[in-house]
Amino acid sequence: MSRIAYVNGRYVPHHAARVHIEDRGFQFADAVYEVIAVSGGGLVDEAPHLQRLGRSLGELRIARPMSEAALKAVMREVIRRNGVRDGIIYLQISRGAAPRDFAFPRSARPSVVMTARRHSGPNPRLVEEGVGVITIPDIRWARPDIKSVALLPNTLGKQQAKEAGAYEAWQVDRDGKVTEGTSSNAWIITGTGEVVTRQADTSILNGITRLSLIALLDGEGLRLVERPFSVAEAKAAREAFLTSTTNFVLPVVRIDDVPIGNGHPGTAVRRLREAYLSYTAAQGMRR
Ligand code: PDD
Repeated sequence: MSRIAYVNGRYVPHHAARVHIEDRGFQFADAVYEVIAVSGGGLVDEAPHLQRLGRSLGELRIARPMSEAALKAVMREVIRRNGVRDGIIYLQISRGAAPRDFAFPRSARPSVVMTARRHSGPNPRLVEEGVGVITIPDIRWARPDIKSVALLPNTLGKQQAKEAGAYEAWQVDRDGKVTEGTSSNAWIITGTGEVVTRQADTSILNGITRLSLIALLDGEGLRLVERPFSVAEAKAAREAFLTSTTNFVLPVVRIDDVPIGNGHPGTAVRRLREAYLSYTAAQGMRR
């Protein structure tokens, strides 16, 4: 099946999908996006993703390009046209195309782009063995809570991780505290069994996977503490993991080459991954 993209009201072959060269997303990263998982043909956590999208648009004062009902209908059509049962949908909204000027254009229509592809989560070997992360300074702007496409520091960090043989880079603030990964949220489980992740203020993206997992913790008998944690604390943790739409819950077993716990995925992380996967599968069955 050949891939189909949605671009400003049209369904077009993926290879021919285009936006204008003066689109502000292209020139200024003046755009927001969402990545939503598709499980069993159903969208996972559609409502909170759309809520976060609305918040990102509001923070950047980008007009809503279409009603929520229309957006939902297009997402379903993109999934259908691409034959995706398990995968992801990517949706991006920019302020639109206009002659290059830093200030907002007086009249520009927001550009909407959507793609979908099959994806079944990270390689099973990574899930089984866990992954390594490196730590790097967080050099991003002060509003990473907005899901904008201004991701250059994130791409540089991910590349650095890759070149170091690691899966992800955990970004660290000026106080030596971990903010989040370049495309995932960061978690540890302390020696006393507390599940710790940074509070969702303006310093991190409030991951939807993060929010759903928080809601599942109680049922697993685990206690959540939302606070910053240092790199040293993370290295001394009993377990560590990361969360995102594309990775679900993934064990972290090395931080800067220091093994976490016994260097293998721990029992709590395995349980949390299973609980999260059951939660997403249930949404596919309910659609
Ligand atoms: N990234 N933090 C950052 C910086 C992210 O880019 C992401 C997601 C997350 C996790 O958020 P969520 O659980 O809502 O996926 C945290 C997406 C997957 C991406 O850019 O591809």
